[in-house]
Amino acid sequence: MTAEAARIREADSETIAKAATLLQAGGLVAFPTETVYGLGADAGDDRAVAKIFAAKARPRFNPLIAHFPDAEAAATETLFDVRAERLAAACWPGPLTLVLPRRPGCRISSLCSAGLETQAVRVPDQPIAQDLLRAVARPLAAPSANRSGRISPTTAQAVAEELDDAVDLILDGGPCRVGLESSVLDLTGERPRLLRPGGLPLEHLADVLGELPEAPKAGAPFASPGLLESHYAPDTEMRLDVGEAAPDEGLLAFGPAVPSGAAMTLNLSPSGDLTEAAANLFAYLRRLDAAGLRSIAVMPIPERGLGRAIRDRLRRAAAPRPEDRRLDQPL
Ligand code: TXA
Ligand code: MG
Repeated sequence: MTAEAARIREADSETIAKAATLLQAGGLVAFPTETVYGLGADAGDDRAVAKIFAAKARPRFNPLIAHFPDAEAAATETLFDVRAERLAAACWPGPLTLVLPRRPGCRISSLCSAGLETQAVRVPDQPIAQDLLRAVARPLAAPSANRSGRISPTTAQAVAEELDDAVDLILDGGPCRVGLESSVLDLTGERPRLLRPGGLPLEHLADVLGELPEAPKAGAPFASPGLLESHYAPDTEMRLDVGEAAPDEGLLAFGPAVPSGAAMTLNLSPSGDLTEAAANLFAYLRRLDAAGLRSIAVMPIPERGLGRAIRDRLRRAAAPRPEDRRLDQPL
């Protein structure tokens, strides 16, 4: 057994209790959510939160989501308006993160807010995450459990590959059901703004809100540092919306009509189901990336429902890497 594998534990009740004790003592525990695995720390403990940034090599300007067992707990630290209440009632627990004003006296470490006056909050829909949050009895700061700028992990093994010995314990809950990070909605302005398309489709948010959230403005100073263009990046180059693949390429396929000829083909959903495709996306990208191919060719994915978030992640995975760029970085 490798050193990494030694940290993975099946999430039975005894292990969840141990994880809670580690977290209360300022440790880092990776845990499954319905979206992706999170790297958790006590959100009220500055030193523990600082360890998250170090473990991920995450820039300090990129704020963290605080996770709660229910909306009532989230409302003790942040201010809910009518829109937030309506969304919480309709969508939580679930793959939606709300960016809200911090309450005066908010006990969540200001490191989680990265200097902003807002705090992102979320209630995950995953039994292990729920049990852990209730056992710890404090909010958990948890970004995706990958190194900064890389693909989010959807299995415990992928967490081990990403974070090595920076984490005290990895709770194994099997593959994540949704497979894409939560949708991030900013409710601090007059109009709701979708900062990150994710596991809760835009159409659903619009239904609950009675209006279509604004998209972040292209070229505006970024409201959410997670919107950096290159993100979710594999090492292998990517080509999007292709109709054919070369013999030295990997093909990430979608739907029943798959071109032949690629060195390796993984089909996100042979039947063309976007929910299935979302659940497979990151694991398949990891497998293709590990195969040492010249590039990864990706078939077109429709821009609707979960397809929006899938396309967003693929576009970022294909974008030039930060180190390829010069002074066009915002920070
Ligand atoms: O599904 C998820 O959201 C997963 C699981 C573990 O909950 N977490 C996750 O966290 O994806 P992270 O840190 O990898 O992505 C959170 C995103 C980032 O793009 C961050 O910039 C943005 O949310 N964010 C967090 N707090 C914010 C805030 N106060 N204002 C604006 N954006 C914020
Ligand atoms: Mg992330």
